[in-house]
Amino acid sequence: MRPSHVLPGRRLRRRGRAGTMLRASVLRRLGRPGARAGARLLEYSGPRHYSSGPLGARDDAGGARAFFTTPIFYVNAAPHIGHLYSALLADALCRHRRLRVPGAAATRFSTGTDEHGLKIQQAAAAAGLAPTELCDRVSAQFQQLFRAAGISSTDFIRTTEARHRIAVQHFWGLLEARGLLYKGLYEGWYCASEECFLPEAKVTRQPSSSGGSCPVSLESGHPVSWTKEENYIFRLSQFREPLQRWLRGDPQAITPEPFHRAVLQWLEEELPDLSVSRKSSHLHWGIPVPGDDSQTIYVWLDALVNYLTVIGYPNAEFKSWWPTTSHIIGKDILKFHAIYWPALLLGAGMSPPHRIYVHSHWTVCGQKMSKSLGNVVDPRTCLDRYTVDGFRYFLLRQGVPNWDCDYYDEKVVKLLDSELADALGGLLNRCTAQRINPSGTYPVFCTACFPSEAGLVGPSVRAQAEDYALVNAVATLPRQVAEHYENFQIYKALEAVSSCVRQTNGFVQRHAPWKLSWESPVDAPWLGTVLHVALECLRVFGTLLQPVTPSLADKLLSRLGVSATERGLGELCFLPRFYGHPCPFEGRRLGPETGLLFPRLDQSRAWLVKAHRT
Ligand code: MSP
Repeated sequence: MRPSHVLPGRRLRRRGRAGTMLRASVLRRLGRPGARAGARLLEYSGPRHYSSGPLGARDDAGGARAFFTTPIFYVNAAPHIGHLYSALLADALCRHRRLRVPGAAATRFSTGTDEHGLKIQQAAAAAGLAPTELCDRVSAQFQQLFRAAGISSTDFIRTTEARHRIAVQHFWGLLEARGLLYKGLYEGWYCASEECFLPEAKVTRQPSSSGGSCPVSLESGHPVSWTKEENYIFRLSQFREPLQRWLRGDPQAITPEPFHRAVLQWLEEELPDLSVSRKSSHLHWGIPVPGDDSQTIYVWLDALVNYLTVIGYPNAEFKSWWPTTSHIIGKDILKFHAIYWPALLLGAGMSPPHRIYVHSHWTVCGQKMSKSLGNVVDPRTCLDRYTVDGFRYFLLRQGVPNWDCDYYDEKVVKLLDSELADALGGLLNRCTAQRINPSGTYPVFCTACFPSEAGLVGPSVRAQAEDYALVNAVATLPRQVAEHYENFQIYKALEAVSSCVRQTNGFVQRHAPWKLSWESPVDAPWLGTVLHVALECLRVFGTLLQPVTPSLADKLLSRLGVSATERGLGELCFLPRFYGHPCPFEGRRLGPETGLLFPRLDQSRAWLVKAHRT
């Protein structure tokens, strides 16, 4: 895990021994100087220009295709909840999109493992394993976790696969052919744990066990080593202006906005060329530079190309998917995705990604999660304890992209008990219980009791001002939720649903249907209307919760008798009877009783008592 980068305003120093990348003064050009690439780069003139380029029209959210990606995960250690969070965000976005635009061919979603590089090479050596053994073992753990957590990816890539090697080497060949690579001498600090170069200002000294001191990364505390070698260099410096044009022309390219601003600020500063290979004698665990086995391709270049590999690159099929790509990433890898990757893409003649959605990190009891602190939260234990839907709901409801979030067990229990067990489960129970709804149907809505025009008075009118407020809130909820998804604020979407659930409980409480009688000709139409409205609200909640809690939503919708073909967002027409249209559910039998929607995780659970004691 890499440390968070300081946002915004991080300065790359011009002076000092090493830059994050390369300084001209430490580069001695060797071999052929490499053709200038400026002429071709200048062809890029902003987002509108590239959208009509050879890759085809840009496909916005409403278009036919969308491609979501998670970062690919390092296999040096087992997955933790931060990794699962990255994958869940992508999964929820992707599932929400599938509800809007159905059809298996419309949406792709990739995840995978990042298996090359010094970090993995060293981790395997430390574990006494061959790198392939370590990769197979940990990659399988990620795959099992994602399967268990309901991550609905359509591809899982491992960078050690042959298809990926072909893609990376092809991509490299393109950069070389376009004159964007040259050979130079690099010297500077390298942090294997972060797989990146660090400027002098980001390095400090820490006492070592031998009594002396050793250089470490200021942010992460991980050891760094001085590297001096001849490498291939990418002409990153030439892309500063094209990158600025891209970001200024597309203010939503990086979301949330503070991250967009931070990247623009980084681009105000020097953007030195980037070393993109290592000596194979130093780094053998990677993809060799085509035609030069003495060099291994830099792991970040290797890793980033995974996004192309999974859509078939270099075969032409990738062209219909690439322009629709949305990357979901943690803030620590923003620079790699928002500067290096778009520059590499532009260099290879492609457009930058459509969207980069950035999230912050999970800490544990106020501290960064780390193996050495022994506070890494195992996501498999959490899925077992809180159920898959419960833990998905917790992470997505509590995780705020703009800020770090703190994890502790009591918080999970409190949230799930109050929002899923009591509020949502209780509401379903109240409207479907045999005692209150003996016919087990979706009752009839009475327009005389609840006329569409607010403020009417008459003997049969029972609806009050707050009831109209509820109808209005739930009617606008799907749009609101969609906007929150578009802005990568899934927690706000869930907050909005939760607030409507509370309002609906208030509605039921206000009209106390348990005090009304089906036998009374005065009560019965209103009793049916109260239940009808509440069930309609529940149908909306169930539909909107599908991307986050798929099984729980399925249970809820099945109990309401909503069939599989009636669960898309296109079909979600709330309370049509109120607006004078027929309702397909009215009078329909409810689905079979399936027990509690979400059983309370009450404090008596053995593991929780144990967690309190320790
Ligand atoms: N292998 C690179 C990514 C290459 S993508 C071309 C990498 N891997 S990682 O395993 O270190 O991180 C993968 C993702 O997990 C990143 O998005 C990172 O931000 C995320 N997280 C790692 N720790 C995290 C938390 N504590 N909290 C939330 N997400 C965190 O970087």
